[in-house]
Amino acid sequence: MTNQHLNFDTLSQQVISTLQADIETLLNHANLPSPLHEACHYAMTGQGKKVRPLLVASGYLTVLASSQAATIDTLPLFDDNCRRAMLAVEFLHTYSLIHDDLPCMDDDDLRRGRPTCHIKFGEATALLAGDVLQTLAFEALSADLPGFAPISNDKAASLLTLFAPRARRMVSGQMLDLNAENKQVSQPQLEAIHRDKTGALIEAAVLMGAACADANDTQYQALTSFASNVGLAFQVQDDILDVTSSTDTLGKPTGSDEGLNKSTYVKLMGVEAATDYAKSLFLAATQAIDDNFDKNSSLIDLAQWLWQRQK
Ligand code: IPE
Ligand code: IPE
Ligand code: MG
Ligand code: MG
Ligand code: MG
Repeated sequence: MTNQHLNFDTLSQQVISTLQADIETLLNHANLPSPLHEACHYAMTGQGKKVRPLLVASGYLTVLASSQAATIDTLPLFDDNCRRAMLAVEFLHTYSLIHDDLPCMDDDDLRRGRPTCHIKFGEATALLAGDVLQTLAFEALSADLPGFAPISNDKAASLLTLFAPRARRMVSGQMLDLNAENKQVSQPQLEAIHRDKTGALIEAAVLMGAACADANDTQYQALTSFASNVGLAFQVQDDILDVTSSTDTLGKPTGSDEGLNKSTYVKLMGVEAATDYAKSLFLAATQAIDDNFDKNSSLIDLAQWLWQRQK
């Protein structure tokens, strides 16, 4: 595969199969009591798109491909630290979804095509499942895990430095999102909410992938621009799909935002203008990669794949 375009389907399959096995490893390592283990396992194995792990792997490969003459011609496509980062973002993300769906938050009863964690296991267990998935996200970046090479202190510190503040911003964003229910907010205010609640973790994913490949400052800058645009675009698109898609396709209830009178880009500017805006953000994201890396970056494929979901 050297100097050739890495097929995006190959990457997705590799990410999904690696992640599936690694999720089992991390949950078994945690040795959780029943029914906490079952609730975590249930939440982690629903039909999620695995966007954030894909962003980790794509960020890693994009930097690697531009730093090495002879590249990606062997499987696995990513190293053990990259696998740890993929776990961290998926565990943190899934925790955020479990809590987001609770009756005290968005009160949704369907997620990833199945009853939400609290519908299946009760609120107390779902709350704890979210809590422990969050701690496991951090353990993934530092603990000794079977089947993983030990991570160096330096690498763990650099990953945690990228991850922790953005995980915290996700929670801040959720608070701002609740504060903005039943209110008219301005576009800058809504942008700040979306950048925190969704954009920050997407940024962490790309930047941790880059850190695993020892990115330099210029590369970090370009990848930050990519991730910041994709992160905002992703939540704008999520707002749109809540109105234009179907519960079957999304695996979660549509119309949830309107029911809660959430502040969304659809409410702020309407579906059409929000779609144009999302498109411009995806284009700005791919431009940042185009200008700084090989045009065949899997990050570009990923951005295009996300944009296609709109149609
Ligand atoms: C849903 O994220 C929550 C948002 C941040 C918009 P995803 O759309 O990535 O959810 P899954 O992981 O595919 O279920
Ligand atoms: C969720 O935003 C963001 C986080 C979970 C941090 P939404 O509330 O719009 O996500 P969905 O639509 O329920 O997936
Ligand atoms: Mg929400
Ligand atoms: Mg929600
Ligand atoms: Mg939503």
